[in-house]
Amino acid sequence: MIEYKNVGKTFGEFEALKTMNLTIETGELVTLIGPSGCGKTTTMRMLNRLIDPSEGVITIDGVDIRKKNPVQLRRDTGYVIQQIGLLPHMTIEENITIVPKLKRWEKARMKERVEELMKLVGLDPETFKDRYPSELSGGQQQRIGVIRALAADPPVVLMDEPFSALDPISREQLQDELVKLQEEIKKTIVFVTHDMDEAIKISKRIAIMRDGEIVQVATPDQMLREPKDDFVRDFIGAKRLNQELGQPAAYSLMIRNVATVRADRGLAEAFNYMKKSHVDQLYVKGSNGELRGLVSLETLKTAYPNEDKTVADIMETNIHWVEGDTLLAEVAELFTEKDLYTLPVVQHDELVGLITKSSMIRGIAEWEQQGGET
Ligand SMILES: Nc1ncnc2c1ncn2[C@@H]1O[C@H](COP(=O)(O)OP(=O)(O)O)[C@@H](O)[C@H]1O
Ligand SMILES: [Mg+2]
Repeated sequence: MIEYKNVGKTFGEFEALKTMNLTIETGELVTLIGPSGCGKTTTMRMLNRLIDPSEGVITIDGVDIRKKNPVQLRRDTGYVIQQIGLLPHMTIEENITIVPKLKRWEKARMKERVEELMKLVGLDPETFKDRYPSELSGGQQQRIGVIRALAADPPVVLMDEPFSALDPISREQLQDELVKLQEEIKKTIVFVTHDMDEAIKISKRIAIMRDGEIVQVATPDQMLREPKDDFVRDFIGAKRLNQELGQPAAYSLMIRNVATVRADRGLAEAFNYMKKSHVDQLYVKGSNGELRGLVSLETLKTAYPNEDKTVADIMETNIHWVEGDTLLAEVAELFTEKDLYTLPVVQHDELVGLITKSSMIRGIAEWEQQGGET
């Protein structure tokens, strides 16, 4: 059992979490849900001591986690994030066995575990275990991310928006698989999402958060029947409506291979990237993958003689972007109104894809073929 007792967290002056109390039973899947910045990730990262609370106590099975060795704690906690994070130079099998290896498991036991887990998520071990991550689709990679977190059989598993960068179909499949998997393994899972449909589908209980506070904790059914206030009602309502409209959203229209450059890079390096990727613009990312701006070939050429400048000095910061769940109609309107050629897709500040004029038109065509209207 995990208990948060009067837990608070401040970053400098900023109160990211106010007094928070939450109990998660052993074997239970609890979802933390709420708008961007409400404190979900902070709440989760305190459990494996990537962040320590400023106030209050967190216990796992009655033991204050500050008494545990952080390295040990992290090995005993499975962790899955949105960006998958498989190591590209390691095979699938090697990726899955990272923690078991650290724990000095016997070779035979690791091999057995890899096969068992891969079968659980429908990936044939013989076909896939010796491949490298880049040889798998996004959905397959994220399946590996999930089973890697389970590999050493940790009592607690943390999943921070693990499916939110996937296309809607892979996403639904992975949700179904997680539900099935959880029936078998019965782990204590803390799952973060901002998608109410996802939360309803997979959770035993949902904790909905706003501005660093838990607003309501309830089973999906209770929450649908008796949302505690207008905030909860709106949160459920908006998501339901999106689903009913059935329109494709930004993340199903986007391409994933966006040519990007880090803000702190020099201009020659940016120029080199452009040449290599055959593009005339690069999106600029900060050190956490967050979208910072755009730099065009023209701007780059003009500023090029200045060796002291970095991309951050010359980029255009006032650019348009959309969240992954923005619906086609709104995307199309932005393109027309602002006369855009490309539109970056952002999920919690992070650049996850790019809608181009042609990828959008393709999306509209497919949607109209299905009888949809924008
Ligand atoms: N290391 C940090 N320093 C300063 N502020 C932070 C830090 N980490 C998170 N925050 C702030 O705390 C709030 C909650 O962040 P987070 O838990 O990541 O939200 P969520 O996961 O719900 O989107 C946000 O306003 C965020 O900007
Ligand atoms: Mg987060």
